[in-house]
Amino acid sequence: MKFRVYNPTDIRFGTGQIQSLRDLVPLKSRVLLLYGGGSIKQNGIYDQVMAGLAESTVFEFGGVEQNPVYETLQKAAHVARENDVDLILGVGGGSVIDAAKFLATMVPTGSEDPWADLAGGKLPARTLPVGAILTLPATGSESNAVSVISSRERKLKLPFKNEAARPVFAILDPSTMQSLSRRQLENGVVDAFTHVLEQYLTAPVNAPIHYGYGETLLQVLSEWGPKLIETGSDEARENVMWAANQALNGLIGAGVPQDWSTHMIGHAITALYNVDHARTLSVIMPSLMRYKAAQKQAMLARYGRKVWSISEPDDAIAAEMAIERTERFFKTMGCPIRISELGLDFSEAGIVEHLERAGQTVLGENRDIDASSVKQILSLAA
Ligand code: NZQ
Ligand code: ZN
Repeated sequence: MKFRVYNPTDIRFGTGQIQSLRDLVPLKSRVLLLYGGGSIKQNGIYDQVMAGLAESTVFEFGGVEQNPVYETLQKAAHVARENDVDLILGVGGGSVIDAAKFLATMVPTGSEDPWADLAGGKLPARTLPVGAILTLPATGSESNAVSVISSRERKLKLPFKNEAARPVFAILDPSTMQSLSRRQLENGVVDAFTHVLEQYLTAPVNAPIHYGYGETLLQVLSEWGPKLIETGSDEARENVMWAANQALNGLIGAGVPQDWSTHMIGHAITALYNVDHARTLSVIMPSLMRYKAAQKQAMLARYGRKVWSISEPDDAIAAEMAIERTERFFKTMGCPIRISELGLDFSEAGIVEHLERAGQTVLGENRDIDASSVKQILSLAA
C-alpha cells in the first residue's frame, strides 16, 4: 500500500539523557510537568527533571492514573489554561505520556468537555507541543501519535490519534527503569511484543523489510524480556527500552495490513474490570490467533519458524506450535493466558457492549471480526 512515514520526535537515548532537557526546552518556557502517582518523586527522576528545567517556569500536575482518566485531565486542562503554558512535559509510562498528548490536544479546544469532538476526530487547529520522559518501556507512546484515554463517566476506553501531538522530543534513559516492579517490567515486554504481532500477523504482502524488522524486535523481546526479569542488567534494560519504542513508532506498520482486535478487546476488559493493559492482551492474543488460524496461517507459521526456530514443514502444525510458544512466553513473563486466571465475574456481553459503544465491532485486517466473532474469541479464551 502507499504509505508515509514521518516521525519527527527527537529521541535522546541513554543514561543521563534527562540533562538534555536544557537543550530541548526553549529558554523561558512555561512548562506543565505532568506525572502519575508519585514514583518520580521517590526515585530521583523528579529532581533530575527540575534541574533540567532550571531556565523555565514550571507548573505541576500529578495524579494521572494508570489508564489515564479524562475527568482528571479536565482538571489538568484547567491548570494549563490558567497558567498559559506553552509545553506539556509528560514524565512517566504510557499513561502519563498519553495523558500529556491528549491534554496538548484538549487545551487549545477551549472547551471544558471536548470528549465527543475529539472522539469524532474533530481536532483543534493547533496543538501544544509535547515532550516525553519515558520511565517504563511498553507502549511506544513517547514517539507515536496515539493516546488511550478512559472516561469514568462514560465507562469507555478509547484510542485518540493526533499527529500534531506526537512528542517533539522523547528522553529514553534506561536507568530510570531501576525502580520498576517486576510486574510492570513483565507488562511492558508483553505489551511491546503484542504491538509487533498486531502489525505482523495478518496475510502476507510484499513487505520483507517490515517483516524482517518485526521479527528482530520479537526475537529481542523474547530473549531479553526474561533476562530483564531475572538479571535486571543494563544491557537488558537498554535492549527492551529500544525494542518497545521501535515496536510502535509507526515504522513496521507503515503500508501493511494490521489487526488491532486484541487491543480493542483488551481495552474493553480494562475499562470494565481495571485489568493491567498487558494482561488483557496476554489472555486474548492466543485465542484470537487460534480463532483466525486458517486466515493467518502463513504469517503464523513464518513467525514460528523465524522467531521460535520451529522446523515443522507443515504450515498448519507450525502455526499451532507458534501459538503454544507464544503462550509459554507470556507465562514466562508472568502474564495470564486465560480469562479465568484473572479471577473476575466476567461478562462476554459486557465486552461486546463496550465495543459497540466504542464503534469497534468491525475489526481485523479483513474487517470480519464482529460481535459474534468476539464472543467466540472470548469463549476460547475463557
Ligand atoms: O503513576 P506513576 O507514579 O508514574 O507509576 C507508574 C504506574 O503505577 C509505574 N511506573 C512507571 N515508571 C516507573 C514506575 N514505577 C517505578 N519506577 C518507574 N520508573 O508503573 C505503573 C504503570 O504505569 P503506566 O504508565 O500505566 O504503564 P504503561 O506504560 O504500561 O501504560 C499503559 C497505558 O498505555 C496505554 C494503555 O492502554 C494504558 O492506558 N497504551 C498506549 C498506547 C499508545 N499510546 O500508543 C498503546 C498501547 O497499546 C496502550 O494501549
Ligand atoms: Zn498495547
